[in-house]
Amino acid sequence: MKNFTSLNDIQDLESLVHEAFELKKDLYAFSDLGKRKTLGLVFLNPSLRTRMSSIKAGENLGMQVQVINLGTEIWTWDVEENTVMNGSATEHIKDAARVLSQYCDIIGIRCFPGLKDKERDNLDLVINTFVKYSLVPVISLESATGHPLQSFADLITIKETWKFPYPPKVVLSWAPHIKPLPHCVANSFAEWMNAVKDIDFVIAHPKGYDLAPKYTGNAPVFYNQEEALENADYVYFKSWSSYKEYGTLPKVKENWLLGAEFLYSHSGTYWMHCLPVRRNVEVSDAVLDSARSLVYRQAYNRTVAMQTILKKMLENSL
Ligand code: CP
Repeated sequence: MKNFTSLNDIQDLESLVHEAFELKKDLYAFSDLGKRKTLGLVFLNPSLRTRMSSIKAGENLGMQVQVINLGTEIWTWDVEENTVMNGSATEHIKDAARVLSQYCDIIGIRCFPGLKDKERDNLDLVINTFVKYSLVPVISLESATGHPLQSFADLITIKETWKFPYPPKVVLSWAPHIKPLPHCVANSFAEWMNAVKDIDFVIAHPKGYDLAPKYTGNAPVFYNQEEALENADYVYFKSWSSYKEYGTLPKVKENWLLGAEFLYSHSGTYWMHCLPVRRNVEVSDAVLDSARSLVYRQAYNRTVAMQTILKKMLENSL
């Protein structure tokens, strides 16, 4: 695995999940693999889970981990090619990528979309330009269009909790929010669920919130949440802004916030969210704190997912 920026970087998803299960049995089993190797983590945006789980994953493999935050600790970057840098950015991303490649053996980078210009966000300029100029493997810690590490952790969570021989029904359900959020988590989750053969995947959201077809593929879409949730084994809540009316929050008349009553009618359903979550806006306390909530398990599996990717990259470089 040269880079990990999307599902396309994975050759065999089933064997990757199997590798994650094996690693999870003993996260310290390869504590010398990353000896004298450095993991650089670059954050252009805030993070709790991605930051901490990536540090832990690197350290579990014996790596030295360096974390830097753009803007406050390092120079701001220009990402345009052939640019005249007479604006606010101090350094070009190509120079930063080349320099960081000399200090680090693997680099993770997080960058959110601006949510103003759809075409520009779809180019995913920061991660793609960084990949172009980096001399070492690059891992997406969430980009303008996707969050593959989150989806890998979510897939591990579903696979390790599902005990029946038939495929689970997994619903990606839009959730309300007070501000427009990126599509990254929803895009990647849809893409990954579509790629797994033994999962029955559907999407639920209000009208006006359709995701990009590139990620949703042939997954059935419901505009009625209750209908979509019928016989659901897993419900993954996530808020995202409109893709069509890019970055806006079209008005939604129906109530998409599920309360305690759903726990009674869906007693066998697992509830998921990538976190951070705005309690009682996106998802109710009743759902998040229920015995069927998997949100903390998902967060734990972020370390397992990152460590599996790092292990593969380190093994490649041996
Ligand atoms: N789920 C996730 O990526 O969390 P952070 O934004 O805290 O890293």
